[in-house]
Amino acid sequence: MSVIGAGYLGAVHAACMAELGHEVVAIDTDAGKVASLAQGRAPMYEPGLDDLLARALATGRLTFTTDYALAADADVHFICVGTPQRHGENAADTSYVFGAADALAPHLTGPTLVVGKSTVPVGTAARLRDRIRSIAPAGDDVRLAWNPEFLREGFAIEDTVRPNRFVYGVDSPATDPGRADTDLLDRVYAEPLSTGIPRLVVDFATAELVKVAANAFLATKISFINAMSEVCEAAGGDVVALAGAIGMDDRIGPKFLKAGIGFGGGCLPKDIRAFMARAGELGADQALTFLREVDAINLRRRARMVDLAREACGGTLRGKRVAVLGAAFKPNSDDIRDSPALDVAAACRMAGARVTVHDPKALDNARVRAPELDYADAVTECLAGADVVLHLTEWTEYRELDPAELIALVAAPVVIDGRNALDVDRWRGAGWTYRALGRPTV
Ligand code: UGA
Repeated sequence: MSVIGAGYLGAVHAACMAELGHEVVAIDTDAGKVASLAQGRAPMYEPGLDDLLARALATGRLTFTTDYALAADADVHFICVGTPQRHGENAADTSYVFGAADALAPHLTGPTLVVGKSTVPVGTAARLRDRIRSIAPAGDDVRLAWNPEFLREGFAIEDTVRPNRFVYGVDSPATDPGRADTDLLDRVYAEPLSTGIPRLVVDFATAELVKVAANAFLATKISFINAMSEVCEAAGGDVVALAGAIGMDDRIGPKFLKAGIGFGGGCLPKDIRAFMARAGELGADQALTFLREVDAINLRRRARMVDLAREACGGTLRGKRVAVLGAAFKPNSDDIRDSPALDVAAACRMAGARVTVHDPKALDNARVRAPELDYADAVTECLAGADVVLHLTEWTEYRELDPAELIALVAAPVVIDGRNALDVDRWRGAGWTYRALGRPTV
């Protein structure tokens, strides 16, 4: 098989498919990325990925290249390129998807299956099929399927080989049983399917929508609890206790109800915006108006965090030292795309504070994105002389810090927990003033 695009999705997919026993050629236009992957170095931090790459490369079943001609013999081609938010717009930029298809198609000389995995606006698969067929020498012998990916950063390998479901979007599943496409995908995923993971066969549009609907639901769940957090702040309630209580109803469930500074990353924020934009194009904009509110609640939490920091510093951040624990958009990742943590840090800096950021993995990326901030390789260095400490990404190592040891380092022992993840009693017991979003009474 070929895997086109060796970013988060593609690099993990390629390595996992080789691990499952397939012959994989992974193609990316970035020669630097290809060279480092070929030496077993992933372009991002993902637990277990470097080891997996080393194992897969050693078998000889995995190769990385910039040359699309090497994809010519593959039975199946996975398109795994990014679909970022278009500059200045809500819509997704699908130019990499169509660019990949244009580069691949001239090499498709016989019957083959192209499988889209990228997150795309509904309607893309049908357009992509027509485009590839119009370019490929094999014409209509090229088939297309849509097989969305649900991997979470930090759990990318597990989510690829043990997803909670496989979704295959095939061409007209009702009239044409789509058996050939389904059978081929079943062969690709034979090992995980043998463990009983469900697999659903649907049409293109449904497959494309499953992905964005899932991300929209997750974003809505987070913003719901963050809206409750705002109400708790106004009414004097405790959002953590509230989330625990409603989560015990198994129709609601406890997952994705962690209140804090909200969601970020390369997926949830841009996916809900692209979904709204696409619904608008389809004349169904009213159906998704609520996602505008989901987005707004999410961004308000970042602003509220800055307000709490300002309050803690006596009404102004000007000239204050702010220590920020966390830069990545979530723990176990070095990804700082639309990171709430980095956004809050930058806003404190804009408000006149001197901000020092620590993160176990994301500092190199953060330094490039926000060079105006100071960075510390050690937590102790980050906290030195701080007027307030902001806990913004819930890395395990921050939960394991000893607040009694740290108190001597800071100018004022005030911690604001933007992820509701620290042990309140421990920090309080060690003499810290502890504040958190949605917990005015704690
Ligand atoms: C998300 C989805 O969870 C994946 O299923 C999907 O495949 C992926 O996007 C994608 O489209 O590629 P990911 O971006 O890795 O995965 O991150 P999540 O674990 O969903 O977390 C997103 C953000 O929500 C993080 O900033 C996290 O801190 C925040 N979050 C999560 C909360 O604020 N509260 C919660 O309760 C859960």
